Amino acid sequence: MTNLLEINNLYVEYKTAKINETTVVKAVNGVSLSIKKGEIYAIAGESGCGKSTLAKAIMNLVPIKSGKIVFLGNNQNKGVNDYNKSELKEYRKNVQMVFQNPYSSLNPKMKIGEILEEPLIINTDFSKEDRKKRVIDIITKVGLNETHLDNYPHEFSGGQRQRIAIARALVLNPKLIIADEPVSALDASIQAQILNMLNELKSELNLTMIFISHDLSVIKFLADRVAIMYLGEIMEEGKTTEIFENPTHPYTKALLSAIPKYGKTSEEILSGDLPNDIPSGCKFSSRCKHSAGECDLRCPEFHQITETHKVRCLL
Ligand SMILES: Nc1ncnc2c1ncn2[C@@H]1O[C@H](COP(=O)(O)OP(=O)(O)OP(=O)(O)O)[C@@H](O)[C@H]1O
Ligand code: SF4
Ligand SMILES: [Mg+2]
Repeated sequence: MTNLLEINNLYVEYKTAKINETTVVKAVNGVSLSIKKGEIYAIAGESGCGKSTLAKAIMNLVPIKSGKIVFLGNNQNKGVNDYNKSELKEYRKNVQMVFQNPYSSLNPKMKIGEILEEPLIINTDFSKEDRKKRVIDIITKVGLNETHLDNYPHEFSGGQRQRIAIARALVLNPKLIIADEPVSALDASIQAQILNMLNELKSELNLTMIFISHDLSVIKFLADRVAIMYLGEIMEEGKTTEIFENPTHPYTKALLSAIPKYGKTSEEILSGDLPNDIPSGCKFSSRCKHSAGECDLRCPEFHQITETHKVRCLL
């Protein structure tokens, strides 16, 4: 499979200024990854590990400190953050985002038909008739129908609204979807319906998706590959089966042990909170019970367990 997106050694920082003091939050710390066409690539990790910041950097919604994000569907080798206005417009057509909260992501004053037609008006030269056809096509694909187009967002349930948000993301036929916790705000039974729908759409439309979630059981169901993130860095990456059947990083094991069905090693329990200061050696060292002298001294490089499974641990 060919790559659609490549990220190389990406760093993103937030600077917050208070009186006499500037605080720097290092949210993404040297992430490199590639997304293959047609795959669902999941990013998991505790709250605050930098998942959304990574997504925003890919969308060019936050400035990057260093590193490169290259979208191979457009301008070969040109970094996303070097795009000019027209390249950025083209990119935004090709890369769409679905957010966690379906209640705030749809304009309450617009009818569903208008919400779905708007991106087509802005980004295509489709005739009115063709736009209508496309809108009906896409609303049907997400399990709703033409009669819903005249309704307003408040007339729908959370699950239906998330279907509409997904339809809006799909209406321009993008090459990549970034879904940031798209089912976390929904009840379990509704979550399952949306996940089933995404699974069906994946095969039907050959979707490529970055799927962000703190919920590993959701990821197990949907993803082809998984990256486990901790303090802005990927600690382990592999095919979904490799991560669930042979978790290798102590952090991955600890995350999995929280799910009785998948946790194999009950001795790996995640304790403590994310540290305020990033440790200088292995970033997980302050919470890792296997931490030894060397772990505090140097940041482990990745080592390959299989061709597709790699882990950043000195053990
Ligand atoms: N706009 C901002 N200004 C300053 N710090 C920020 C900002 N946005 C995020 N952060 C900080 O950056 C770090 C990464 O946050 P981010 O939202 O990317 O994490 P996340 O993995 O998406 O968490 P969650 O699972 O809670 O959504 C956190 O320490 C967070 O407090
Ligand atoms: S490198 Fe050391 S501290 Fe880091 S995860 Fe491995 S054993 Fe734990
Ligand atoms: Mg987030």
